[in-house]
Amino acid sequence: MVTVGGAATPLIQKSDVERMPGDELLRLARVLKVTISRRVVKRAWLVEAIMEEMERRGHCEDPQIQLHAPAIDISGLTKRFGKKVAVKNLDLDVQPGEIVGLVGPNGAGKTTTLRILTGIIRPDSGSVFVDGHDMLKDPILAKDNIGYIPEKPTCYPSLTVREYVMFISRVYGVPAEVALIRMRRYVNLFHIDSFLDSYIGTLSKGNLQRTLLVGIFVREPPYVLALDEPIYGLDPRGAWNLKAHLRKLRDEGSAILISTHILQVAADLCDRFVIMNLGEEVGNGTLKELLKVNSGARNLEEVFLALTGGIPQ
Ligand SMILES: Nc1ncnc2c1ncn2[C@@H]1O[C@H](COP(=O)(O)OP(=O)(O)OP(=O)(O)O)[C@@H](O)[C@H]1O
Ligand SMILES: [Mg+2]
Repeated sequence: MVTVGGAATPLIQKSDVERMPGDELLRLARVLKVTISRRVVKRAWLVEAIMEEMERRGHCEDPQIQLHAPAIDISGLTKRFGKKVAVKNLDLDVQPGEIVGLVGPNGAGKTTTLRILTGIIRPDSGSVFVDGHDMLKDPILAKDNIGYIPEKPTCYPSLTVREYVMFISRVYGVPAEVALIRMRRYVNLFHIDSFLDSYIGTLSKGNLQRTLLVGIFVREPPYVLALDEPIYGLDPRGAWNLKAHLRKLRDEGSAILISTHILQVAADLCDRFVIMNLGEEVGNGTLKELLKVNSGARNLEEVFLALTGGIPQ
């Protein structure tokens, strides 16, 4: 990341701390070594003391961070599995402040593209840069700068959700005091309070997805995100919250690549679309641009059908 311009939201706000339950507030005070000399402590006093220490540590300032442009830069990507060409000579970029929808039929190569982008598998040829870091030559740095929700989420089954989020925050070097505050912010946003101390192995698919999202957002914004069908397992409220949050992150400078089959979600959320079919890009542009090029189509669904086998009669 480079530091120019600015993300809009300060790292930590007082309202975040005010919303924390008593036990978390006390834990935060311990982490910050806030001296509590009285036997009975008023909540408002504790919040003030915590905020003073957070400000002293520089956690409340606008971080003024912007991503490298483009934040995701894929070129000439090809991946074969035996004789099967899963991705063929794909170019794709996502700018900071942009949500790009990666859409295509089953087997089009979307998940393969995202797995290469996140460094899980290597391509046969082509290059992948994340926030200016080469995923093939400098994978640790590139992986450090990307948040990924896989198509089939898996996670450490014997950690509780709380342990997982704090573990992830340590892996990514987020100070414990910031992680505690952010965890509570996203626990509230994604409604995971009721299973915060449950083992990950016992969670439903949608709740596991929410947990992974908190694991991403506990890190420092702005984010480079690769989300593979992130809406699919979520209930309507979870989906609504996630969409609203992704829009906010986009407006604050994050770069988001999202694969989805739900074209209504894509049309609603994405600024631009990359349409894949049989491993190749068959369309790229805003909805307006795609409609202009595909003259018979009236919406994203019809553009999609036209470019991936024709509109059924
Ligand atoms: N590990 C693998 N080994 C062999 N073939 C694979 C492997 N991973 C993917 N493929 C093949 O590559 C092609 C692209 O698969 P991919 O999972 O990327 O598609 P997708 O666009 O994500 O599909 P879906 O919409 O169903 O999720 C498919 O034909 C798939 O069978
Ligand atoms: Mg897939």
